[in-house]
Amino acid sequence: MTPVTNRQLYLHQRPVGVPTADDIRLRTVDVPSLADGEVLIENHYLSLDPAIRDWMSGNDTYMAPIAIGESIRSTTLGKVLESRHPDFVAGDYVQGLAVNAWEEYTVNSGEVLTKVVNDGKYPPRYYLSIFSGAMGLTPYFGMLELGRPVAGETVLISAAAGAVGSIAGQIAKIKGCRVVGLTGSNDKASWLINELGFDAVINYKDCDNLAEEIASVCPERVNIFFDNVGGEILDAALLNIADHARIVFCGAISSYNASGPVPGPYNYWQILAHSATVKGLLTTNYVDQFDAANAEIRGWLESGKLRFNEDIVDGIENTVDAYARLFSGMNKGKLLVRLAAADQQ
Ligand SMILES: NC(=O)c1ccc[n+]([C@@H]2O[C@H](COP(=O)([O-])OP(=O)(O)OC[C@H]3O[C@@H](n4cnc5c(N)ncnc54)[C@H](OP(=O)(O)O)[C@@H]3O)[C@@H](O)[C@H]2O)c1
Repeated sequence: MTPVTNRQLYLHQRPVGVPTADDIRLRTVDVPSLADGEVLIENHYLSLDPAIRDWMSGNDTYMAPIAIGESIRSTTLGKVLESRHPDFVAGDYVQGLAVNAWEEYTVNSGEVLTKVVNDGKYPPRYYLSIFSGAMGLTPYFGMLELGRPVAGETVLISAAAGAVGSIAGQIAKIKGCRVVGLTGSNDKASWLINELGFDAVINYKDCDNLAEEIASVCPERVNIFFDNVGGEILDAALLNIADHARIVFCGAISSYNASGPVPGPYNYWQILAHSATVKGLLTTNYVDQFDAANAEIRGWLESGKLRFNEDIVDGIENTVDAYARLFSGMNKGKLLVRLAAADQQ
């Protein structure tokens, strides 16, 4: 039966700092009827990504800002309930990459909508985590295309216990590198070492001088810095780069909640001094290679070379509180919200 109403989270006002329930509110709206070329998706899982915070700011980045009153744009995983699009039929599982929203039902025109391989081997949800740009594909292209790891090199990863960082480190291990992670809790540090095979981890919240700590753990300096954080962590890493280091600029979560311009990097000069390269990563540049990348990621999962964690919170009404966990460091691995419809899978 076609649903009549849709609960959705929308941007009530632009947040100052970490978004709260005053900024993002829940409302009930009608489900619109479908036009030709559209599909109606029942969302099962919402992806909680740091970049969404930037879209809430009104800044122009690689994607238009979310307007006041608009639903919160997101990547979601769901099931097609009705289709007037030639490529989709009811029952298909689909992932909408940064085109759907934090809501129960989405009407989508089929653009950037991917049919999920549903062969019973993996839950469709994996297309929002390990097989998605929100987790596996970003470190895949960031590490392999921009980092270009060589066996024996030292790789440093910031936000190492997160969705992207935890996979970036393991890919560098697969390529024979020595991998050092940065994270903000001892629990996540031991997970990275004991379960994911990182060689060393620094708890950046528990050291007096991060640059010195990196120097002692990376005596041969850092060949690849995979940066998810920016700010002071980037500055500490820059003081430790090796000649011809590659810096993968994947994200800068330390500044996403800033209300004004952020300073730095103060140690920018190190890039020149070490003939280093900084490259910005945009995973959407590799869409035509996603299937091939996922084939290799599947191989690593099946051979036990790659492990991952999904951090799942239940209920659309808990989404805003869950989202804050990205900025307090409370998540371990890929943060998702499971909606009520997912129980029927
Ligand atoms: N370029 C692309 O195409 C692309 C695609 C996806 C994601 N990204 C970027 O990748 C980065 C990681 O995203 P994710 O989804 O994997 O998130 P995540 O790493 O799973 O979660 C964020 C983590 O960042 C750390 N963190 C938060 N605030 C911090 C701060 N002020 N200083 C230091 N660490 C902080 C926390 O871990 P600790 O407890 O360890 O501090 C937190 O758990 C983000 O910058 C995101 O924008 C880029």
